[in-house]
Amino acid sequence: MTQMEQDKDSIAPTAEESIRLLLPSEYADYAAHLLRLDPLSRFMRFAGLVTEPALRRHAARVADQRAVVLGYFADGELRGVAELHPLPVRAGRPRSAEIAFSVERPWQGRGIGSKLMDRLLAYARAHRFEDLQLMFLASNGRMKRMAVERNARLTNEDDEIIGRLQPRPATPFSWAREAARSVSAVAKAASAMPRRIFLPHPSKN
Ligand SMILES: CC(C)(COP(=O)(O)OP(=O)(O)OC[C@H]1O[C@@H](n2cnc3c(N)ncnc32)[C@H](O)[C@@H]1OP(=O)(O)O)[C@@H](O)C(=O)NCCC(=O)NCCS
Repeated sequence: MTQMEQDKDSIAPTAEESIRLLLPSEYADYAAHLLRLDPLSRFMRFAGLVTEPALRRHAARVADQRAVVLGYFADGELRGVAELHPLPVRAGRPRSAEIAFSVERPWQGRGIGSKLMDRLLAYARAHRFEDLQLMFLASNGRMKRMAVERNARLTNEDDEIIGRLQPRPATPFSWAREAARSVSAVAKAASAMPRRIFLPHPSKN
């Protein structure tokens, strides 16, 4: 049995899963997710070695900049993310962003990365991003497959690949669906919060 098969067997079947935007209050979960990535996944995600302090700094920057983070939750726990980092707007140039993905090792190879990518593309489409850039190592077969399947233009640079994706323009329907998803993300996150924070303060009784 391969390590990947052993990892998959070591997790219980997921009872409930969802993909939704992270709320600003959930960026600590994003840092915890990055810190749970195994060394190879971290290496693949950041195209090099990254220390824990560097991961924490990256997570803090993402939170400061309020980057868009779509999360995959399994039984309420964040196990995978798709990130979208808008690039500075330049006159006459398409609205661009960098995108990146990570799924924790035991959850890899189950179609979660592909689902996150489709949802991120839908988000980008609704928010009028015209050019998405993605960087990954040439040895990253899954990431390459995900990009090629979605018609990314790939350019090789040494052992790295740069992918460019152009989401189709939004339609009223796709825009409305994303707006509904944003509302539902807030509702789902709120329903997952501990019940006690909704109880009235004793002094107000
Ligand atoms: C890359 C990553 C996000 C993919 O997520 P995942 O959930 O493991 O991937 P999926 O199971 O959705 O598989 C993605 C595609 O690769 C295919 N695939 C699976 N194993 C593969 C392999 N060994 N070689 C090539 N393709 C493979 C799948 O069939 C799927 O294609 P499909 O959508 O056409 O069916 C995840 O493996 C990961 O987090 N890796 C570490 C971090 C990283 O590499 N990030 C990318 C740089 S930003």
